[in-house]
Amino acid sequence: MLSIDSIEPLIPAARIEERVAELARQIQSDHPGGELVVISVLGGSVIFLADLVRKMKIPIRIDTMSVSSYTGKAVVPRRLRVLKTFSEDVRNKHVLIVDDILDSGATLAAVLRDVGAMRPASLKTCVFLRKKRQRKIEISPEYVGFDIEDNFVVGYGLDYDGMYRNLPHIAVLKKGHLQSPQAEGTTERSTFTTP
Ligand code: IMP
Ligand code: MG
Repeated sequence: MLSIDSIEPLIPAARIEERVAELARQIQSDHPGGELVVISVLGGSVIFLADLVRKMKIPIRIDTMSVSSYTGKAVVPRRLRVLKTFSEDVRNKHVLIVDDILDSGATLAAVLRDVGAMRPASLKTCVFLRKKRQRKIEISPEYVGFDIEDNFVVGYGLDYDGMYRNLPHIAVLKKGHLQSPQAEGTTERSTFTTP
């Protein structure tokens, strides 16, 4: 039976609120005229999405996609599956993809490919967190909340085995005993920065 070693606070709720407001302002000023279709990647981004869109005053439509890359307690990505695709007609529309975290990049690559194939007028990406790690697929989101170390994090929508999504802050899950080689014996202090 797996157990969790410790959960250490990383990004306080008040700092998250400030940063989400900054991102919302930035996105708004980049889309002054028209309508924006916001496609949220379920389920990690729902809390971020809810806070972000309520700070924006431009006309938006909200759609969702569901992509599964992690299965249950596994922290090593499994084969990626699109479980639910978006339903808005995005052709010639301005589209913003919203996701919780950029890790390997596989999820966003699949989402950008599917949405891009529908010929939107513009396609941008916003991630709440970006992990500092090598990525097989290079993804450069236009909007990034925070850059963090390559640790497994939970809270503010992000889960471990379906749990901790409701934490109002971001915390690092110490998981030296789980299946992630880079987590073994991790001793360095976790930090976060804004791009
Ligand atoms: P990617 O396809 O490897 O970029 O993984 C992206 C997805 O994996 C995210 O949308 C999350 O749902 C999940 N994920 C990646 N890293 C973490 C983490 O540290 N905590 C919780 N979920 C994570
Ligand atoms: Mg996700």
